[in-house]
Amino acid sequence: MAKMVDQRLKLIICSVFALNAQLVFGDSFLNFTFLESAVSKGAVCLDGSPPAYAFDKGFGEGANNWVVFLEGGGWCNSKSDCLDRAKGYFGNSISRPFNRTFFSGILDQTQIFNPDFYNWNKVFVLYCDGASFMADVERVDPKTNLTYRGARIFDAVMDEMLAKGMKNAENAILTGTSAGGLATMLHCDKFRGLIPNAGRVKCISDSGFFIHGTNLPGAEYRLRRFAKVVKTHKLAKLLPTSCTSKMDEGLCFFPENFVQDIQTPLFILESAFEKFQVTSLSQ
Ligand SMILES: *[C@@H]1O[C@H](CO)[C@@H](O)[C@H](O)[C@H]1NC(C)=O
Ligand SMILES: *[C@@H]1O[C@H](CO)[C@@H](O)[C@H](O)[C@H]1NC(C)=O
Ligand SMILES: *[C@@H]1O[C@H](CO)[C@@H](O)[C@H](O)[C@H]1NC(C)=O
Repeated sequence: MAKMVDQRLKLIICSVFALNAQLVFGDSFLNFTFLESAVSKGAVCLDGSPPAYAFDKGFGEGANNWVVFLEGGGWCNSKSDCLDRAKGYFGNSISRPFNRTFFSGILDQTQIFNPDFYNWNKVFVLYCDGASFMADVERVDPKTNLTYRGARIFDAVMDEMLAKGMKNAENAILTGTSAGGLATMLHCDKFRGLIPNAGRVKCISDSGFFIHGTNLPGAEYRLRRFAKVVKTHKLAKLLPTSCTSKMDEGLCFFPENFVQDIQTPLFILESAFEKFQVTSLSQ
């Protein structure tokens, strides 16, 4: 319960921030596009709703450059947890206020606030699967009707972007925050593989380096938590085999155990005092 209140409070704070930001920076909300065509491929959110993204077309010198942002929002780690999640903000694509999202940071459309990327093609991928865009479970649980298909969502949205011109990208960045930052690392080489002709492809993981931290308080709790995500979403065969061949799959959701095997240039952005990791993940 406390967690839910906390979540709502964060949403309210974000909304207030977004409102203020809108007044200062102009209208930087972009509508979501629902990828209805993905539904027949089984690429759907936890609740079965279609994937969604928001897209801002590049122009000028950015016309052939792409930045793809994977949204974060924690994970669900049991059937009942995922069932709760499926009803809300991060478990479906139909609960977002006004069906739109705010473009800020690396997605900011203004030259003064985002001089390097403002004119790139920019994509915001809505997070609604609960396992960092990684799951691919064919079977739909008849008791809950939940679908664990994050990897299919990633693939479907990437196909859409390739068709929109990303296949001719000169430069491309895959990025994301939190659970999306973890997804960025897990998908980094796959992303590179989608655009073999691009000159430069790099990944930026923002606040996604979740540590197991065997010598720090709460290590067992953190492992239990991630192991449950891996089990619930059946990720064992989908995590980097360079890691799963050496250790338990639960450990292979921790970047410290697979990041050294990523071939594509990766920039990790992580506060040494990140509040979420030093409080929520250390009891
Ligand atoms: C976004 O959606 C709103 C509400 O449906 C609509 O009024 C607006 O024109 C849309 N904006 C764009 C750029 O399509
Ligand atoms: C958002 O889009 C969904 C799916 O198209 C629609 O059912 C819902 O009414 C829309 N919500 C708003 C606030 O426009
Ligand atoms: C699952 O979906 C089917 C088909 O839409 C529906 O008949 C059934 O009631 C659903 N079950 C649950 C538990 O929601």
